[in-house]
Amino acid sequence: MFEYAPAPESRDIVDIKPSYGLFINGEWVEPLGEGRDKTVNPASEEVLAEVAVAGEADVDRAVQAARKAFTVWSAMPGSERAKYIFRIARIIQERARELAVLESLDNGKPIRESRDVDLPLVAAHFFYYAGWADKLSYAGFGPSPQPLGVAGQVIPWNFPLLMLAWKVAPALACGNTVVLKPAETTPLTALAFAEICRQADLPPGVVNIVTGAGSTGAAVVAHPDVDKVAFTGSTEVGRLIARSVAGSRKKVTLELGGKAANIVFEDAALDQAVEGIVNGIFFNQGHVCCAGSRLLVQESVAEELLDALKRRLSTLRLGDPLDKNTDIGAINSAAQLAKIRELSDAGEAEGAERWSPACPIPDKGFWFPPTVFTGVAQSHRIAREEIFGPVLSVLTFRTPAEAVEKANNTPYGLSAGVWTEKGSLMLWMASRLRAGVVWSNTFNKFDPTSPFGGYKESGYGREGGRHGLEAYLAV
Ligand code: NAI
Ligand code: MG
Repeated sequence: MFEYAPAPESRDIVDIKPSYGLFINGEWVEPLGEGRDKTVNPASEEVLAEVAVAGEADVDRAVQAARKAFTVWSAMPGSERAKYIFRIARIIQERARELAVLESLDNGKPIRESRDVDLPLVAAHFFYYAGWADKLSYAGFGPSPQPLGVAGQVIPWNFPLLMLAWKVAPALACGNTVVLKPAETTPLTALAFAEICRQADLPPGVVNIVTGAGSTGAAVVAHPDVDKVAFTGSTEVGRLIARSVAGSRKKVTLELGGKAANIVFEDAALDQAVEGIVNGIFFNQGHVCCAGSRLLVQESVAEELLDALKRRLSTLRLGDPLDKNTDIGAINSAAQLAKIRELSDAGEAEGAERWSPACPIPDKGFWFPPTVFTGVAQSHRIAREEIFGPVLSVLTFRTPAEAVEKANNTPYGLSAGVWTEKGSLMLWMASRLRAGVVWSNTFNKFDPTSPFGGYKESGYGREGGRHGLEAYLAV
């Protein structure tokens, strides 16, 4: 293994304020209550900033501002709305380096990923939906599809700015206004986005950002004047939300958890598959709803593949997220680390064999080494429950039918990967896998033109692509 000198990205480019208010009606306002929360850098446990906690009355102010702005925004010709969204996309590109550093500081993800994956996709998403704003009549939802009104959006901490883009861009393109609540451990890029809305001269109230934890999110979802609810996060909270809006006229989309199978057949290009497995489960520390957390490998090549995988994992570098050589960053929070530890310990206790490469762990911060479990049975918790960390469970199969059966043996159904040189086998598999996305000889590939969403307990509704417009239109 090569020795690499540290290559840290400078954090001077970001200007983090000691304290942030709420972004309501185009202004920074103080919350009505006393509530304040802190967001930390998970790689150092350093407090980055103090952030307001919005109570019900604050959420009400934000929804009222969004309601008022809806009159203006929904009446604007689509070609005019598009100009604002294009402007937002361009400002994001101009400020990409700053936003990438901010994301890595607040979330713990490697700068290589925030810089090369998150930020380009964020900008692409706004560009893509800006293009739809004046073409909604041709999207296949009737000659004159109308916006829904105020969208209440609650997002998670694994891709903070990217999940904001997935929610905000289609909402605005369709003529809706937004009240968005970022996750409590990663609010800073959403607050930077509020500044970008001002920079783009977006009319006040079109985008409102309210910070806080679960109770703030619950207030957004339950507000009677919210017309559309969009949520990405845990299946558990997704259930609460589905219950909270049941019987109301609110339209809902839920993007929840996953336990995806990454399936490798004996004829696959194994070196390429190894890269896909690594990208599938160790990208973003495994904090990915569509992560390939279950490797299903054909028995005849299992040993060869696992040897190659372990060799590859021994070259991954874990450490400072701002170092450009870092492959694996910090776990987002102490709570998430505790969950990963608990499930990994359960894997060992239930009889699976645990392996990690030699991997020095920094003294401060939240870290978990890349981990592989072999000898995993389908009944093990690590084969059934979402770990949401850098932990791979390996199972084997002999026939395509067995692979399908094992892959579908999960309450989730967000994604799957299939590795084979045979096109016919690929299509045979894809038509039988109960998953919203099936990747072929690749994994974790995202594009704004491609719809994304789940089956079963992974949620309902689609985000991205033409399909993603439907959730924000009265059709
Ligand atoms: P979570 O579902 O509690 O948090 C997601 C968002 O929902 C956050 O903004 C949170 O403040 C908000 N929220 C929490 N309770 C709410 C409520 N009652 N009403 C409305 N909003 C509410 O997820 P958490 O606790 O951070 O992570 C727990 C597990 O969930 C993870 O270990 C992982 O397995 C899964 N998860 C899945 C994600 C995905 O992308 N599918 C993203 C984040 C977590
Ligand atoms: Mg943080």
